[in-house]
Amino acid sequence: MDSFSKNIANIRQDYCQATLSESETGNDPVLFFTRWFEEAQHAECIEVNALTLATVDASGKPHARIVLLKGLEKGSFVFFTNYHSDKGHELAANPHASMVFFWPELQRQVRIEGLISKVDPAYSDEYFYSRPLGSQIGAIASPQSQRIADRSVLEESLAAVAAQGDVKRPAHWGGYQLKPQRIEFWQGRASRLHDRIVFEQTEEGSSWTQYRIAP
Ligand SMILES: Cc1cc2nc3c(=O)[nH]c(=O)nc-3n(C[C@H](O)[C@H](O)[C@H](O)COP(=O)(O)O)c2cc1C
Repeated sequence: MDSFSKNIANIRQDYCQATLSESETGNDPVLFFTRWFEEAQHAECIEVNALTLATVDASGKPHARIVLLKGLEKGSFVFFTNYHSDKGHELAANPHASMVFFWPELQRQVRIEGLISKVDPAYSDEYFYSRPLGSQIGAIASPQSQRIADRSVLEESLAAVAAQGDVKRPAHWGGYQLKPQRIEFWQGRASRLHDRIVFEQTEEGSSWTQYRIAP
Protein backbone atom coordinates (compact mmCIF):
# COMPACT_ATOMS: atom_id res chain seq x y z
CA MET A 1 0.00 0.00 0.00
CA ASP A 2 1.48 3.41 -0.88
CA SER A 3 1.33 6.31 1.56
CA PHE A 4 -1.66 7.92 -0.12
CA SER A 5 -3.63 4.66 0.11
CA LYS A 6 -2.55 4.25 3.74
CA ASN A 7 -3.76 7.76 4.47
CA ILE A 8 -7.16 6.99 2.91
CA ALA A 9 -7.40 3.57 4.53
CA ASN A 10 -6.93 5.18 7.95
CA ILE A 11 -9.88 7.53 7.61
CA ARG A 12 -12.46 6.19 10.02
CA GLN A 13 -15.75 7.53 11.26
CA ASP A 14 -17.78 5.80 13.90
CA TYR A 15 -21.53 6.07 13.61
CA CYS A 16 -23.40 6.19 16.87
CA GLN A 17 -25.88 9.07 16.65
CA ALA A 18 -29.12 7.19 16.20
CA THR A 19 -30.89 3.90 15.53
CA LEU A 20 -33.64 2.87 13.11
CA SER A 21 -36.35 0.38 13.96
CA GLU A 22 -39.32 -1.08 12.08
CA SER A 23 -41.65 0.63 14.57
CA GLU A 24 -40.38 4.08 13.46
CA THR A 25 -40.61 3.67 9.69
CA GLY A 26 -44.35 2.89 9.62
CA ASN A 27 -45.79 1.36 6.45
CA ASP A 28 -45.46 4.30 4.02
CA PRO A 29 -41.81 4.79 2.93
CA VAL A 30 -42.53 7.99 1.00
CA LEU A 31 -44.03 9.54 4.12
CA PHE A 32 -41.05 8.33 6.14
CA PHE A 33 -38.71 9.85 3.51
CA THR A 34 -40.38 13.25 4.05
CA ARG A 35 -39.74 12.88 7.79
CA TRP A 36 -36.04 12.11 7.29
CA PHE A 37 -35.78 14.92 4.71
CA GLU A 38 -37.23 17.45 7.15
CA GLU A 39 -34.89 16.19 9.87
CA ALA A 40 -31.94 16.63 7.45
CA GLN A 41 -33.14 20.17 6.70
CA HIS A 42 -33.47 20.88 10.41
CA ALA A 43 -29.93 19.52 10.97
CA GLU A 44 -28.77 21.97 8.24
CA CYS A 45 -27.31 19.23 6.06
CA ILE A 46 -25.40 20.85 3.20
CA GLU A 47 -27.18 20.53 -0.19
CA VAL A 48 -29.90 18.56 1.53
CA ASN A 49 -31.80 17.98 -1.73
CA ALA A 50 -28.74 16.81 -3.70
CA LEU A 51 -28.88 13.18 -4.79
CA THR A 52 -26.79 10.87 -6.90
CA LEU A 53 -28.77 9.76 -9.93
CA ALA A 54 -27.63 6.54 -11.60
CA THR A 55 -28.85 5.64 -15.08
CA VAL A 56 -27.90 2.93 -17.54
CA ASP A 57 -27.16 3.46 -21.23
CA ALA A 58 -28.32 1.33 -24.16
CA SER A 59 -25.21 -0.89 -23.89
CA GLY A 60 -25.80 -1.57 -20.17
CA LYS A 61 -23.09 0.76 -18.82
CA PRO A 62 -24.03 2.70 -15.68
CA HIS A 63 -23.52 6.46 -15.31
CA ALA A 64 -24.02 8.56 -12.17
CA ARG A 65 -24.15 12.26 -11.36
CA ILE A 66 -25.63 14.65 -8.81
CA VAL A 67 -28.96 16.39 -9.46
CA LEU A 68 -31.28 18.29 -7.13
CA LEU A 69 -34.62 16.98 -5.91
CA LYS A 70 -37.16 19.65 -6.77
CA GLY A 71 -40.43 17.99 -5.87
CA LEU A 72 -42.19 14.96 -4.44
CA GLU A 73 -45.44 14.70 -6.34
CA LYS A 74 -47.96 11.92 -5.71
CA GLY A 75 -45.18 9.70 -4.37
CA SER A 76 -42.74 10.38 -7.26
CA PHE A 77 -39.34 12.09 -6.89
CA VAL A 78 -38.88 15.01 -9.31
CA PHE A 79 -35.75 16.65 -10.75
CA PHE A 80 -35.15 18.95 -13.72
CA THR A 81 -32.64 18.69 -16.51
CA ASN A 82 -32.00 18.81 -20.24
CA TYR A 83 -33.81 15.96 -22.04
CA HIS A 84 -31.06 16.01 -24.70
CA SER A 85 -28.31 15.46 -22.11
CA ASP A 86 -26.51 12.14 -21.70
CA LYS A 87 -28.86 11.22 -18.84
CA GLY A 88 -31.82 12.12 -21.09
CA HIS A 89 -30.60 9.72 -23.79
CA GLU A 90 -29.91 7.02 -21.19
CA LEU A 91 -33.39 7.37 -19.69
CA ALA A 92 -34.95 7.21 -23.17
CA ALA A 93 -33.11 3.91 -23.70
CA ASN A 94 -33.77 2.52 -20.22
CA PRO A 95 -36.21 4.15 -17.77
CA HIS A 96 -34.87 2.21 -14.74
CA ALA A 97 -32.91 4.51 -12.44
CA SER A 98 -31.59 4.81 -8.92
CA MET A 99 -31.30 7.81 -6.58
CA VAL A 100 -29.08 8.03 -3.50
CA PHE A 101 -29.28 10.68 -0.80
CA PHE A 102 -26.45 10.94 1.75
CA TRP A 103 -26.95 13.07 4.83
CA PRO A 104 -23.59 12.72 6.63
CA GLU A 105 -24.56 15.05 9.47
CA LEU A 106 -27.22 12.49 10.45
CA GLN A 107 -25.23 9.41 9.35
CA ARG A 108 -28.08 8.49 7.00
CA GLN A 109 -28.44 7.23 3.45
CA VAL A 110 -31.61 6.67 1.43
CA ARG A 111 -31.58 4.60 -1.77
CA ILE A 112 -34.54 4.82 -4.12
CA GLU A 113 -35.01 2.67 -7.23
CA GLY A 114 -37.77 2.80 -9.79
CA LEU A 115 -38.98 3.89 -13.20
CA ILE A 116 -38.55 7.37 -14.60
CA SER A 117 -40.88 9.30 -16.88
CA LYS A 118 -41.16 12.94 -17.97
CA VAL A 119 -43.40 15.19 -15.90
CA ASP A 120 -46.33 17.04 -17.41
CA PRO A 121 -45.08 19.99 -19.54
CA ALA A 122 -47.26 22.36 -17.47
CA TYR A 123 -45.31 21.32 -14.38
CA SER A 124 -41.99 21.93 -16.17
CA ASP A 125 -43.27 25.38 -17.21
CA GLU A 126 -44.26 26.19 -13.63
CA TYR A 127 -40.81 25.29 -12.32
CA PHE A 128 -38.86 26.80 -15.23
CA TYR A 129 -40.52 30.22 -14.89
CA SER A 130 -40.07 30.16 -11.10
CA ARG A 131 -36.27 30.10 -11.56
CA PRO A 132 -34.14 33.28 -11.61
CA LEU A 133 -33.91 34.73 -15.14
CA GLY A 134 -30.18 33.95 -15.30
CA SER A 135 -30.86 30.26 -14.67
CA GLN A 136 -33.61 30.22 -17.33
CA ILE A 137 -31.22 31.77 -19.87
CA GLY A 138 -28.42 29.41 -18.84
CA ALA A 139 -30.65 26.37 -19.33
CA ILE A 140 -31.54 27.53 -22.85
CA ALA A 141 -27.96 28.44 -23.76
CA SER A 142 -26.20 25.27 -22.58
CA PRO A 143 -26.23 22.20 -24.86
CA GLN A 144 -25.79 19.99 -21.78
CA SER A 145 -23.37 17.05 -22.18
CA GLN A 146 -22.30 18.09 -25.69
CA ARG A 147 -18.62 18.62 -26.47
CA ILE A 148 -17.78 22.31 -26.97
CA ALA A 149 -14.58 23.91 -28.29
CA ASP A 150 -14.07 26.24 -25.32
CA ARG A 151 -15.91 28.35 -22.75
CA SER A 152 -16.51 31.19 -25.21
CA VAL A 153 -19.06 28.96 -26.98
CA LEU A 154 -21.21 29.09 -23.84
CA GLU A 155 -20.69 32.78 -23.25
CA GLU A 156 -21.63 33.64 -26.83
CA SER A 157 -24.67 31.38 -26.67
CA LEU A 158 -25.73 33.00 -23.38
CA ALA A 159 -25.34 36.50 -24.86
CA ALA A 160 -27.37 35.50 -27.95
CA VAL A 161 -30.24 34.09 -25.85
CA ALA A 162 -30.20 37.14 -23.55
CA ALA A 163 -30.27 39.49 -26.58
CA GLN A 164 -33.40 37.78 -27.97
CA GLY A 165 -35.27 38.98 -24.89
CA ASP A 166 -38.18 36.55 -25.07
CA VAL A 167 -37.22 33.73 -22.72
CA LYS A 168 -39.28 30.55 -23.25
CA ARG A 169 -38.80 27.09 -21.77
CA PRO A 170 -37.35 24.91 -24.53
CA ALA A 171 -39.23 21.63 -25.08
CA HIS A 172 -35.99 19.74 -24.38
CA TRP A 173 -35.68 21.12 -20.83
CA GLY A 174 -38.00 19.83 -18.13
CA GLY A 175 -38.68 17.50 -15.27
CA TYR A 176 -38.40 13.79 -14.74
CA GLN A 177 -40.21 11.87 -12.02
CA LEU A 178 -39.05 8.61 -10.48
CA LYS A 179 -41.85 6.35 -9.27
CA PRO A 180 -40.24 4.24 -6.55
CA GLN A 181 -40.37 0.44 -6.51
CA ARG A 182 -37.78 -0.02 -3.76
CA ILE A 183 -36.65 2.35 -0.99
CA GLU A 184 -33.95 1.57 1.54
CA PHE A 185 -33.32 3.59 4.70
CA TRP A 186 -29.81 3.26 6.17
CA GLN A 187 -28.84 4.50 9.59
CA GLY A 188 -25.17 4.26 10.59
CA ARG A 189 -24.53 2.32 13.82
CA ALA A 190 -21.51 1.39 15.90
CA SER A 191 -19.07 -1.34 14.79
CA ARG A 192 -20.48 -1.22 11.24
CA LEU A 193 -23.68 -2.96 12.38
CA HIS A 194 -25.83 -0.39 10.64
CA ASP A 195 -29.62 -0.49 10.45
CA ARG A 196 -31.04 -1.12 6.97
CA ILE A 197 -34.78 -1.22 6.37
CA VAL A 198 -36.08 -1.92 2.88
CA PHE A 199 -39.52 -1.28 1.40
CA GLU A 200 -40.51 -3.03 -1.82
CA GLN A 201 -43.63 -2.39 -3.78
CA THR A 202 -45.89 -5.42 -4.00
CA GLU A 203 -46.46 -6.88 -7.47
CA GLU A 204 -49.79 -5.15 -8.00
CA GLY A 205 -48.11 -1.90 -6.86
CA SER A 206 -50.74 -1.02 -4.31
CA SER A 207 -48.78 -1.49 -1.09
CA TRP A 208 -45.31 -2.06 0.34
CA THR A 209 -43.59 -4.98 2.00
CA GLN A 210 -40.96 -4.15 4.57
CA TYR A 211 -37.94 -6.14 5.74
CA ARG A 212 -34.56 -5.66 7.39
CA ILE A 213 -31.29 -6.54 5.66
CA ALA A 214 -27.78 -6.99 7.03
CA PRO A 215 -25.27 -4.17 6.78
C1 LIG B 1 -24.79 19.99 -6.28
C2 LIG B 1 -25.10 19.74 -7.74
C3 LIG B 1 -26.40 19.88 -8.19
C4 LIG B 1 -26.72 19.64 -9.52
N1 LIG B 1 -28.02 19.72 -9.92
C5 LIG B 1 -28.36 19.43 -11.19
C6 LIG B 1 -29.72 19.39 -11.59
O1 LIG B 1 -30.66 19.57 -10.77
N2 LIG B 1 -29.99 19.13 -12.90
C7 LIG B 1 -29.01 18.88 -13.81
O2 LIG B 1 -29.31 18.66 -14.98
N3 LIG B 1 -27.71 18.86 -13.45
C8 LIG B 1 -27.36 19.13 -12.16
N4 LIG B 1 -26.04 19.10 -11.78
C9 LIG B 1 -25.01 18.79 -12.81
C10 LIG B 1 -24.97 17.27 -13.03
O3 LIG B 1 -24.23 16.66 -12.00
C11 LIG B 1 -24.38 16.89 -14.41
O4 LIG B 1 -23.10 17.50 -14.56
C12 LIG B 1 -25.27 17.31 -15.57
O5 LIG B 1 -26.64 17.09 -15.29
C13 LIG B 1 -24.90 16.57 -16.83
O6 LIG B 1 -25.03 15.18 -16.63
P1 LIG B 1 -25.08 14.14 -17.85
O7 LIG B 1 -24.04 14.59 -18.83
O8 LIG B 1 -24.78 12.82 -17.25
O9 LIG B 1 -26.48 14.20 -18.42
C14 LIG B 1 -25.70 19.29 -10.45
C15 LIG B 1 -24.39 19.12 -9.98
C16 LIG B 1 -24.10 19.32 -8.65
C17 LIG B 1 -22.69 19.08 -8.16
